[in-house]
Amino acid sequence: MKPIILDVDTGIDDALAIAYALNSPELEVIGLTTCFGNGPIEYTTRNTLVVLEKLGKTVPVYAGADKPLKRGLKKFPTHVHGEDGLGNKFDKAPAREAESEGAVDYIIRQVKKRPNEITIIAVGPLTNLALAVKKEPEIASLVKEVVIMGGAVFTAGNVTPYSEANVITDPEAADCVFSSGLPVTIVGLDVTMKTLLPKEKLADWSALNTEAADFFADMTRFYMQSYETFHPGIGGCALHDPLAVGITIDPSFVKKEKWNIKVVLEGEEIGRTVAHSEGEPKIQVCTQVEAETFLNHFLSRIF
Ligand code: BDR
Ligand code: CA
Repeated sequence: MKPIILDVDTGIDDALAIAYALNSPELEVIGLTTCFGNGPIEYTTRNTLVVLEKLGKTVPVYAGADKPLKRGLKKFPTHVHGEDGLGNKFDKAPAREAESEGAVDYIIRQVKKRPNEITIIAVGPLTNLALAVKKEPEIASLVKEVVIMGGAVFTAGNVTPYSEANVITDPEAADCVFSSGLPVTIVGLDVTMKTLLPKEKLADWSALNTEAADFFADMTRFYMQSYETFHPGIGGCALHDPLAVGITIDPSFVKKEKWNIKVVLEGEEIGRTVAHSEGEPKIQVCTQVEAETFLNHFLSRIF
């Protein structure tokens, strides 16, 4: 079992990633850390606790960054994830609360306690990781692997023609993480836009008639409607955050290339993840995906 810290900004596809990770025996999710992103930090933390409750799981949750490193907050993507970040399906407050320790200190403490053991899967803005590596730079060489859903290296962005949501939400944090020496694998739009969950599959979830499956199906329907608005006729939604979990379980779902990555921090192309080969290439960039194999694996685990 791989010990995992899952850093989320829950979010509909974050919720799917949480379910996939917690239902996968190869992974031991020791903690969930939260970041602002798909909503304010109060919502993303609450949503993480809600999702855990629906799944009947009690993994500890550590609240993290409430704003980008250097910029103000922008409008939250309510058109994609709903006013509540859960496709407007939030019904009742979770019974549990987040732990008193913050996300950044939790990450540092766990990585130091278990050198070269912990894999961090980060599927929101990279603010928590950047703050952790700025506070304790030596953790960069003590983390086993960092799998990041973020960026659009050889393809178009989803917020601007150049930038992907998690990176543009805190470009300085992403740039810091990519140049920190952390052993990063980028699961960007290059591969996640090829992993489509077809809308017909949601009927199978609803047919299970459990509270969790109904909640996930309803929430994902909302997400699919926003996909349909941006990509008419697409017939489903991309499994961004779940793919980061998937390749942590089975790296053969993707093919990778080694590059260095810098993030554009100003101007029209702000948030763009640019591949270059100055210096020794250190970042693994996923460039191809076995979409069907991954989808079937995801569907076999989600409930
Ligand atoms: C990423 O942005 C967020 O809206 C999703 O949860 C995902 O992490 C996709 O660009
Ligand atoms: Ca996310």
